[in-house]
Amino acid sequence: MPSWSSSSSALTAPNLRLRTLRIWSSKDYAIAAFIFLILFSLLLFSHLDSRYDSQPHHSKLVPLTLLRNANQTRALCLDGSAPGYHFQSGFGSGSRNWLIHIEGGGWCNSIPSCYQRKFTHLGSSDHMEKLIPFSGILSSDPAQNPDFFNWNKVKIRYCDGASFAGHPESERGSGLFFRGQVIWEAIMDELLSTGLSNAKQALLSGCSAGGLATLIHCDSFRQVLPKEATVKCLADAGFFLDEKDISGNSTMRSFYHDVAQLQGLAKSLHKDCIAKMEPSKCLFPSEIAKNIKTPLFLVHPAYDFWQIRNILVPQGSDPDGHWQRCRLDIRSCNANMIDKLDNLECCRY
Ligand SMILES: *[C@@H]1O[C@H](CO)[C@@H](O)[C@H](O)[C@H]1NC(C)=O
Ligand SMILES: *[C@@H]1O[C@H](CO)[C@@H](O)[C@H](O)[C@H]1NC(C)=O
Repeated sequence: MPSWSSSSSALTAPNLRLRTLRIWSSKDYAIAAFIFLILFSLLLFSHLDSRYDSQPHHSKLVPLTLLRNANQTRALCLDGSAPGYHFQSGFGSGSRNWLIHIEGGGWCNSIPSCYQRKFTHLGSSDHMEKLIPFSGILSSDPAQNPDFFNWNKVKIRYCDGASFAGHPESERGSGLFFRGQVIWEAIMDELLSTGLSNAKQALLSGCSAGGLATLIHCDSFRQVLPKEATVKCLADAGFFLDEKDISGNSTMRSFYHDVAQLQGLAKSLHKDCIAKMEPSKCLFPSEIAKNIKTPLFLVHPAYDFWQIRNILVPQGSDPDGHWQRCRLDIRSCNANMIDKLDNLECCRY
């Protein structure tokens, strides 16, 4: 018997029970099934629709590959989980070309801020999406990505909090893993054995903190590839400015000082720079770029909202709130403010 017949209200109220029985005649079952089918299809199509909207054509979802031997190589995310990357094979004329893209996501500059990352995809592969779309420079659509659509494409996930430049000696019983440099080397080894060692052309790219990682590792990437291969680097929105904020404080310099100190980045930065100045200065792209020998592309918006909000007008640098609207929306800046941003940002380099 269907479960509704044993409901207490039905047992104590025979009339109600009869009405209930009448409602669920076989014709009514057919109508209910029909309505259910329509609702279900609507739900399904709206779901598919929203997926198509957010994904360009040809962008298949690419699975996360966790690094093999993460424990043996000591290459671990902040929380001790295995780091990972997404890989899509090249084909046709692109089968021996490689595009490597490093994910961004800021930095952590203290034990508490690194600890918080353990519970996000930026500190643990347990929290990373297992499937991601490849779009833009990673797209397989020749119309969208004519230069690289058929290359081997890799997106390296960021889970060390220090642009792949941290060192385990700095962990000092924090319970966190500072393994950025180790992760970088282990992933390179794995990709080399997957076919990267056979590359004819390779481009190392990255966005934001991944752009900084690109700059830090550009020449070492060149070195692990065959001498005859054409190798270049591309840092997208990774040219962080060594500028004072509007109140005159060196906010970004002191932030980088903390990041470099916490995870021992000096060992991953250029020796010539470290010999001349403190590590936090050597973490700025203007210094890193001076020592890069591999061909390098820098892509950066003239008004980068991240830099405006975090470097030039950080919280607390504007106690009177004059910049409040401008820092959130470039269209709300007055002529004086734009002048100031222009002098700081675009025209100096
Ligand atoms: C590393 O080894 C430890 C101890 O065997 C284990 O608990 C942990 O899950 C391993 N981590 C990874 C990333 O394989
Ligand atoms: C400037 O930096 C000093 C030292 O870090 C800090 O005490 C002060 O609050 C900062 N001023 C502003 C306006 O952020």
